[in-house]
Amino acid sequence: MTDGHFRDPKLASEGKRRIAWAWADMPVLRSIKDTWSETKPLEGLKVAACLHVTTETANLLLALKEGGAEVALCASNPLSTQDDVAAALSLSYGIPTFAVRGEDKNTYYQHIRSVLEISPDFTMDDGADLVSALHQESPGLIAAPTTPGAPGARASNTRGVRAGTEETTTGTIRLRAMAADGALRYPIVAVNDARTKHWFDNRYGTGQSTIDGLLRATNRLLAGSVFVVAGYGWVGRGIAARAAGMGARVVVVEADPLRALEAAMDGFQVTDMNGAAPAGDFFVTATGNTSVIDAEHFTQMKDGAILANAGHFNVELNLPALASLSTGKREARQGVVEYALADGRRLYVIAEGRLVNLAAAEGHPAAVMDMSFANQALVLEWLTGEGSGLPPGVHPVPGAIDRRVAELKLASLGMRVQKLTDRQERYLRSWQEGTE
Ligand code: NAI
Repeated sequence: MTDGHFRDPKLASEGKRRIAWAWADMPVLRSIKDTWSETKPLEGLKVAACLHVTTETANLLLALKEGGAEVALCASNPLSTQDDVAAALSLSYGIPTFAVRGEDKNTYYQHIRSVLEISPDFTMDDGADLVSALHQESPGLIAAPTTPGAPGARASNTRGVRAGTEETTTGTIRLRAMAADGALRYPIVAVNDARTKHWFDNRYGTGQSTIDGLLRATNRLLAGSVFVVAGYGWVGRGIAARAAGMGARVVVVEADPLRALEAAMDGFQVTDMNGAAPAGDFFVTATGNTSVIDAEHFTQMKDGAILANAGHFNVELNLPALASLSTGKREARQGVVEYALADGRRLYVIAEGRLVNLAAAEGHPAAVMDMSFANQALVLEWLTGEGSGLPPGVHPVPGAIDRRVAELKLASLGMRVQKLTDRQERYLRSWQEGTE
């Protein structure tokens, strides 16, 4: 722990209260934890987790602990840590937590090194910083395949990192790049790609919490404003839908023609960033790409435009370029920096261009993280059994886990799925039967 205030019992007690509040909205993870309290599938295993330090993450780690795992946690973003949660985890629940909101880059990476000191069997990452640091700085911690040359095949009693999971789109892209370079040395399951993850977490979770972050930071009216969303993937779709729901006129900037067309048919105006820049009151990037809003766009924006990012890294708004166009900057409101341009216009950047929903609000609601983290938990259990021995590379979440999470969530909502009759099953399988 790098910060003494985590020994503050008052902070820990506030964290405990909020962790319990989130737990009430995580019925799927609760049912997994209940089962695990009997079966202890993770007994004797160590998990190094690099995740946003939020109430929902705390509940995931408590479930892993109940399943028998020893866990350590660091932040997956320097500005997303909820200090009360970090205090509660370390003081009240005995989970080593290396994270302080607003930590600098050196501390952020030092904390990643600290979780690796437990010599984990599994990594649980969000954005692939942990996996990247592990491969570059401590490759000796990765378990060797038991039979040299045999792809995968790591005996469950081999110590060292034998498998991992990845939570977000940007992480899966980085891991696939590592795998394509032949650099990824162990198997990682792309939890992000489970449908019960990205269909809901990326879309509805980020959609709602991004609007929450914008409103908390600015208290501006969305109704009637021009709201530019860059990227119409899972995250962008959610943000666009929620902004439209608040009465904003949404403009979508998208690089993929299919997704741009989808945005158009969903009722949004579609243009490129040069077309959107002069019109927007709000800009939110959600692409996973770099310099999506750049110098040429800042120079065209209206006085007072508000800029934020919901993508994983703080590179989507080219802030160094904005700084070099500016004559000065100051904090206009908590977490809102005003950049003054030479011609008198002012542009406002929220939360240093970091994930606005986590840095200016509390991240996704627990009900949606329930599904993402149920996937994390069940995939980890699967990796200790049926899924052990995967070759190095990026692997999908087994369909059975995805379906199980959906069934458990529906059951918790008191909803039922239609069961097909035998006749309907036969009809759907047959090519001979058509009309009566
Ligand atoms: P996605 O791959 O579904 O969508 C990204 C879209 O951006 C694609 O359609 C792509 O064509 C488009 N794009 C790329 N470069 C562009 C550019 N220069 N201009 C306009 N469009 C461009 O990815 P997804 O799942 O929507 O995730 C987006 C980002 O959000 C990732 O970095 C991901 O890790 C992050 N994320 C953030 C969350 C949060 O809590 N804030 C939650 C989930 C994901």
